[in-house]
Amino acid sequence: MIADEDSTLESNSAVSLGLIVTELLTNAIKYAFPVAKADARVRISFEQHADDWKLSVADNGVGMGSTATPPNPGGLGTAIVAALIKQLGARLTEQSTATGVTVSIERSTFVSSPRKAA
Ligand SMILES: Nc1ncnc2c1ncn2[C@@H]1O[C@H](COP(=O)(O)OP(=O)(O)OP(=O)(O)O)[C@@H](O)[C@H]1O
Ligand SMILES: [Mg+2]
Repeated sequence: MIADEDSTLESNSAVSLGLIVTELLTNAIKYAFPVAKADARVRISFEQHADDWKLSVADNGVGMGSTATPPNPGGLGTAIVAALIKQLGARLTEQSTATGVTVSIERSTFVSSPRKAA
């Protein structure tokens, strides 16, 4: 786990992030390594700058949709994570290859306000 020591989050957001981490970590443990792997790893990272933050959970397993992990698009876990992300005003990106899955959840409050040319 990589964390910025000075980070602070509202307790509601911290609880939601905790639930999300638990679900994603459980998924990695359940599905990423159907066959034991000596260098199996799950990396959890959290970065925060002011009100913006990014959480990532990455494994080096078999990836989604491999024959060993039949797809289950209607999983309750996916639905709960989606609801929590909506509540947090964040967005999810998922990358899945044959060398692992990375799920990132990002909240960005930055709003661009371009100036008009003179
Ligand atoms: N880290 C991962 N590596 C490989 N496959 C994954 C990974 N995470 C999820 N999956 C695949 O995505 C599917 C959907 O995950 P989801 O969490 O929605 O459901 P579930 O874990 O099967 O059920 P639940 O979360 O309700 O207990 C899983 O069934 C699995 O096939
Ligand atoms: Mg799950």
